[in-house]
Amino acid sequence: MSNAGKVLFAFVSLAFSLNAQTNKSATIPHLEKQGTTKQLIVDGKPFLMLAGETGNSSASDLKYLDEIWPKIVKMNLNTLLVPVYWELIEPNEGKLDFTLVDGAINGARKNNIRLVFLWFGTWKNSMSCYAPLWVKTDQARFPRARDAQGRAQEILTPFSSENLNADKRVFAELMKHIRMVDADSHTVVMVQVENEIGMIPSARDHCKEADRAFAANVPAELLQYLQKNRESLTPELRKAWGDPGFKTSGTWEEVFDKGLQTDELFMAWCFAKYANAIAEAGKKEYPLPMFVNAALIRPGYKPGQYPSAGPLPHLFDVWKSAAPAIDFLSPDLYFKNFAEWVNKYDRPGNPLFVPEASNAQSMANAFYAIGQLNAMGYSPFSIESLEHPENNQVTKAYDVLNQLTPLILANQGKGTMVGALLDSANQKAELKLGDYVFTVRQEYSWPYATRAEGEIPRFGCMIIMVSPNEYFIAGCGVIVTFQTVSSDGTIAGIGTVDEGRFVDGKWTSGLRMNGDQTHHGRHMNLPGHTFGIQKVRLYQYK
Ligand code: DGJ
Repeated sequence: MSNAGKVLFAFVSLAFSLNAQTNKSATIPHLEKQGTTKQLIVDGKPFLMLAGETGNSSASDLKYLDEIWPKIVKMNLNTLLVPVYWELIEPNEGKLDFTLVDGAINGARKNNIRLVFLWFGTWKNSMSCYAPLWVKTDQARFPRARDAQGRAQEILTPFSSENLNADKRVFAELMKHIRMVDADSHTVVMVQVENEIGMIPSARDHCKEADRAFAANVPAELLQYLQKNRESLTPELRKAWGDPGFKTSGTWEEVFDKGLQTDELFMAWCFAKYANAIAEAGKKEYPLPMFVNAALIRPGYKPGQYPSAGPLPHLFDVWKSAAPAIDFLSPDLYFKNFAEWVNKYDRPGNPLFVPEASNAQSMANAFYAIGQLNAMGYSPFSIESLEHPENNQVTKAYDVLNQLTPLILANQGKGTMVGALLDSANQKAELKLGDYVFTVRQEYSWPYATRAEGEIPRFGCMIIMVSPNEYFIAGCGVIVTFQTVSSDGTIAGIGTVDEGRFVDGKWTSGLRMNGDQTHHGRHMNLPGHTFGIQKVRLYQYK
């Protein structure tokens, strides 16, 4: 080839490879706005994560992980949340071993499952137990957080550039590796940065560097954010800043006053900055959506008694201002007041994902999170420990959610989908949708229902409007009655109720529900022993 030919050839191949790269990056899993929410887009299409998270140690041996896949498939999951352990991918400094990562990706691909990787790096449940031994044993180079008495904790301090750089380096390598092996397949759809970051048992770090930063002025960046967003700040932060007089400069204790709450605000800023730097370094290599998860607070606990300063609802603004590379903050939900907590994470600009939920609680939680709050996914923890994968409640709930997925995705963020969650404390919900008010009650509230002994179970549903008089209602254990929204005495009548399934995306009616099943035209009922879908056609009369 002539020299001119060689130059032309090189230019054309470069153009080709750039073009291929641009096309590829255009289809990297990412978040996209739809109406009032954001959706996860995978392979160019919205994706609903019907997920589960493995136990903490389950991905440390591929033989064990390989035994899990059939169970995951049986339970109708489409996504698995799997830890990646710093100590195992970098057992010796700078020597990286991605065997476990590749094994998880291969296993997922074979089973047609997507992955969310959980980066167990500097922190896992406040502690630094996943730091490699070469980090743990070199405290001079990788300093620890200290309590108020100066005692070192098994927690790497966020006030050390060595700590941060070590984590950043390995996380960037991890993301680079995922790009290399997965940029064409998109098996990995998101990444969680660290796990349940938080300070415990003291609300703030008292190492020398921390004390120095605490005595310095509040960063201008945070103060500017506070001023810009003064009207929409969380009530707790507004009060903390407002009580001492909305100061626009000063030290942490001058701007927010002395106290545990200020210690926590300070730590939240520093943790969030650290997590942001990790996420940024990773995204430079491969910009998958990234999030952080929070351990929630037990009633009456004070900062220091719970893992403090994590991505908690009262610290939202601090995390949002310090960590723009983190796409959203999410709750780990094990408490009974699921609805109360999950609502705190449904904020403008913060799409909801529940990366950990109690696997003992009813999957009605998922119908609520997805139906009422447009969650992009739901994930019971320690999913592989559930028994009877062929027909347990996850299997049944995800079967229904799987059938409904196209409809759910089409309606997310559009105000055409609602949800209700009922338990012993909340036995009735009234939901307005279209021209109707839906009153959702516990199945057991109906006098003719057979009632099991013991605690009132958790039931719930989602309602999706498909035309002004047509609704799909899906979930378990509820009785729904209907009223019109009009005030002129118009009555809502039940036209027809059909139970059925979506087969290949097409609704296929089964039983026509009437007589006893609708209390002779007075209500619709989703039985409590399983999860199901019914299509309801309403009409109006006077
Ligand atoms: C929350 C953590 O994020 C999980 O990794 C796990 O440790 C559970 N708690 C404990 O069951």
